[in-house]
This record gives sequence, structure tokens and C-alpha cells, in this order.
Amino acid sequence: MTILVTGGAGYIGSHTVLALLEAGHDVVVMDNLSNASEESLRRVAELTGRTVPFHRVDLTDPEGLDRLFSSHSFDSVIHFAGLKAVGESAEIPLEYYYRNVAGTINLLRAMDAHGVRSIVFSSSATVYGDNHHAPFVEKMEMGANNPYGRTKEQIEDILTDLGASDERWSIALLRYFNPVGAHESGRIGEDPSGIPNNLMPFIAQVAVGRREKLMIFGNDYPTVDGTGIRDYIHVVDLAAGHVAALNYLTAHGGVHRWNLGAGTGSSVLQVLNAFSRAVGRELPYEFAPRRPGDIAESYADASAALADLGWSTTKTLDQMCEDHWRWQKNNPNGYAD
Ligand code: WQD
Repeated sequence: MTILVTGGAGYIGSHTVLALLEAGHDVVVMDNLSNASEESLRRVAELTGRTVPFHRVDLTDPEGLDRLFSSHSFDSVIHFAGLKAVGESAEIPLEYYYRNVAGTINLLRAMDAHGVRSIVFSSSATVYGDNHHAPFVEKMEMGANNPYGRTKEQIEDILTDLGASDERWSIALLRYFNPVGAHESGRIGEDPSGIPNNLMPFIAQVAVGRREKLMIFGNDYPTVDGTGIRDYIHVVDLAAGHVAALNYLTAHGGVHRWNLGAGTGSSVLQVLNAFSRAVGRELPYEFAPRRPGDIAESYADASAALADLGWSTTKTLDQMCEDHWRWQKNNPNGYAD
């Protein structure tokens, strides 16, 4: 099939493009490159021997989207493009609602106008908010506690209403937990701009000497060692989950939502120790106050994706750290190298 991947030059997007090509699909990428480098696509082409047509298009440009859908015959869309920093979303909420929600509406209108009615949407476990206790289950009520999470929640609602209004649509809502790691080649990986918000890229930058030490946000949570617990999922496993969801949509209409997680939690200290094992030396850290908005524990009930898609994670936390470290060690400054 021919798949449009929005945000396909990004971290999860580029790994999913690679998985789609390896599964025999043809792929076209659109990205505005606001938080990604076209170099990632050049490396995907290097790894697969397949070229990937790239269009620099912004979701807030309806004319650009119309030209894109007129120039290709897409069977489905995998939609990653959007702003994704929780803290930043509280500082510039209007930009997040404009780019994520209005941008997605533009995309869906272009799809409908061109008869493309199959979409896999990149949602997030952040939609569960802090109203529930882990493990999180898909039927739980959403209740994000930040503007970024609310954009994901609103887009899920839009897609749910769209699917209910028109049976021609096939829709998968994928709720990611904590994506980490990198392709085993070390050629593509996470390349956050500025100071990393997320744990593993920050640890990786400490290990490669770009950051002095890890600040651990809180060691007084009611957890095994007092530090926050999250469900880390290898980005290659996550990409495979997208291919599985895409295959499911070829045979099923309607709206479907799945958690994509390992179904188990790891604490900050457990991640730091695993990363230290991958690097071969202890990494410096200091305990700091809790980060506002953080919850103690977040991990998935991943049974629905296994039952419906036959998908589950395969990689261990040590493999996630080894692969993340290989990427960071080989590319100390990300794609800028
Ligand atoms: C993980 C743990 C922190 C950094 C966020 C978004 C979510 C998704 C993934 C987009 C927590 C601790 C972190 C640091 C630390 N993104 N930590 N020091 O907050 O679970 O999820 O990213 O979809 O939507 O909410 O991930 O990596 O920021 O934090 O101690 O320098 O590491 O307190 O316990 P989080 P994270």
C-alpha cells in the first residue's frame, strides 16, 4: 500500500517509515521540519535501499495539503505531526491547539476530499491524566492534565465522532507510553532540540558529556525506590505496532484504540542503572524536587493490542539503553554531526 506519514522525519516517524518500507509498503513523508531533520530520511533510505519522497508541508496549509493529496494516491495515513512538549504546551497553549487540533482537522478534510479514509493516529498515555491508577486500560475515561494531552484527547474525540458519522472511515488511536531506544544500526534516533524534557535522551546526553548530571525529579514517590515509574517501550517495537494497526485497518472499519506499551513499569533509578550498564560506567545524578504534573506510576495494560493485533513488545530495558546509547555515542550532536 502507499502510506502518507505526517511527521515522518521525526524520531518515531522515521522508525515507522523504516518499518513500513521493510514490510513492503510504499511511503511518502510530509514534515515541516520544525523539530526534525531531513537527514533522518536520507539515513532511512541508506538503511533500506529505498527512496522516500519527501514534501515539506505544514498541517496549517490547506492548499499545500490539497496539492500533496492530488500528487499521490494514498491508501492510508499515519499521523505523527504535531507539537509534543508537555511543559511548553502550558506556556503557548494556543499554538498547540492551532498546530495539533486545527492542523489535524485540515488533514482530515484533505483526506476526505480525496477519498482517503484510513488513519493511524499518534496519541499518548498522557490522555489518562492522573485520574486513574496504573495499569491504564483503553476504556478508562480520558482526563489529560496539560494542554498537550488535551490536544491528543480532543483529536481522539474528533476521530471518534468522524468514525461514528461515516462508516467508510477506518481509524486507529494508538496511545504511546514512553518511547525510547533507537534502531540497532545507530544511524537514526531521538534528536531533541534544546534541553531534553524526557528522561532517556537526557541521560544519554549526560553519558556523552553534553550535560553535567541527571536531576531526578522526586525520590519520595510511593514506589519501589521512591522515584517515578513509567512504561518504557523500544521505538522499534512501537513502529511495529503501527504496521500491525495499519494491517488491522485494511480489514476492519470503525474506530479502535490501543495502548502501545510493555505493560510493565521501570523506575528512574532502574533506567539510570540500566543505562550505566550500557555505557560501562556510573553516571552522575542528584535528587531534585518533584516535577509539577508528574504522577507516581504510569504503565499500560497492553492486553488489547496483543489480542486484536497480535502485537506485543519484544525488547528489554537493557536493549533499549544499549540501542539508545549506540545512537548517542555515534551521533553526539544528533543529526547535526
Ligand atoms: C519519565 C520519568 C520524570 C526527566 C512524557 C509526556 C508523554 C510522552 C512521554 C509525548 C518521570 C523523570 C525525567 C529528567 C527525571 N510524550 N525524569 N529527570 O513525563 O512520563 O511522559 O513523555 O507523548 O506525553 O508526558 O516522560 O521522560 O519526561 O519522564 O527524573 O530530567 O523520568 O519525573 O518520572 P513522562 P519523561
